[in-house]
Amino acid sequence: MLFDSHSNSAIALPNRIAMAPMTRCRADHRDAVPNDMIVEYYRQRASAGLIISEGVPVSDRARGYINTPALWNDAQAAGWRRVSDAVHSADGRIFAQLWHCGRVAHAALHVDGSAPAGVSKKPAATQTMIPGQDGKITQVACGQPQALSLTEIRGVVAEFAHAAKLAMQAGFDGVEIHGANGYLLDQFRCPALNNRNDAYGGSLANRYRLLLEVVDAVAAEVGPQRVAVRQSPYGVANDMVADPEPMATYPWLARELNQRGIGFLHIYCQSADWIHDAGHSMMPALRDAFHGGLIACGGFKTADACEAILARGHADLIAIGKPYIANPDLVERLRCNAPLNKWDVNSFYAGGATGYTDYPTL
Ligand SMILES: Cc1cc2nc3c(=O)[nH]c(=O)nc-3n(C[C@H](O)[C@H](O)[C@H](O)COP(=O)(O)O)c2cc1C
Repeated sequence: MLFDSHSNSAIALPNRIAMAPMTRCRADHRDAVPNDMIVEYYRQRASAGLIISEGVPVSDRARGYINTPALWNDAQAAGWRRVSDAVHSADGRIFAQLWHCGRVAHAALHVDGSAPAGVSKKPAATQTMIPGQDGKITQVACGQPQALSLTEIRGVVAEFAHAAKLAMQAGFDGVEIHGANGYLLDQFRCPALNNRNDAYGGSLANRYRLLLEVVDAVAAEVGPQRVAVRQSPYGVANDMVADPEPMATYPWLARELNQRGIGFLHIYCQSADWIHDAGHSMMPALRDAFHGGLIACGGFKTADACEAILARGHADLIAIGKPYIANPDLVERLRCNAPLNKWDVNSFYAGGATGYTDYPTL
């Protein structure tokens, strides 16, 4: 099954393996344009059924880390066009992951020095990387966020829509909206952070209002079947508080996305256990609610582990992260049960070609 195709009315994937979105910090922070190294990295991984790009900030203020290639202007779109051309020339398909980091950010990352954007004024007790003295990367605590005004919220929706439009110009096959891992859209969902008393706080529908406005605006640009939405049930990354009612929250969103005919719902299991548990109720509940391509991610390292969840019918596609960093030919390796190269954590965000484009194929 893992090596069977999957398609909807807009896109056909030759196998069920997706490369999970992974930030690698290889661009120059000043222009955030994808460079030759980034083109080569994605070209090497084009045998994935679908590549989901690293998180791509939709505006300067959306940036939360140093050196992330972005997508808010024509120069950045032209850089990504080189990436998509390289992937397509190697018979691949690639979505752009559209990203707003929200409070997981620092004013030093923003050209105009603007404070991080928050659902509320609660800062994130976590760290980020900013440009330091002599061009050295410095690790610092995230900055004090400002709660977004209603006008700014409308601006965020417009930024996502603009980035989606640029993504189509750049030749991407679709986009994923990053609604997971404690970034802006996830911050709105979280009742422990969202203390708003306007239309974006309070009820579940209000807390998901921004995400669904983004989904509608992005789908209007690219077509719903070319849209993926990422969620991380039970996730606590980036100083999040686990959702108090996950079995109500995530199936509710899945039904909303299903009604809109969205192409893919991408579920990331941070703890890498419940998604592998046939007896756990989350994936079956999402499967009932969402009839598009359901993607499962977190801790998949063997073809057998992927096949097990596909065979249960609890997912249609498997997204694989860290093994893809170290194995550009991961599909071929899984197909023949070949050993996998080990990833080097120290080069995840280090810049340069080492630990990026130099992992060997079989
Ligand atoms: C270096 C690195 C960068 C990541 N960056 C992102 C990102 O930009 N967007 C995102 O949604 N998830 C990101 N993730 C999470 C991965 O997409 C994936 O969910 C996680 O690594 C678990 O999958 P795995 O067990 O196959 O590695 C990142 C993970 C790693 C290791």
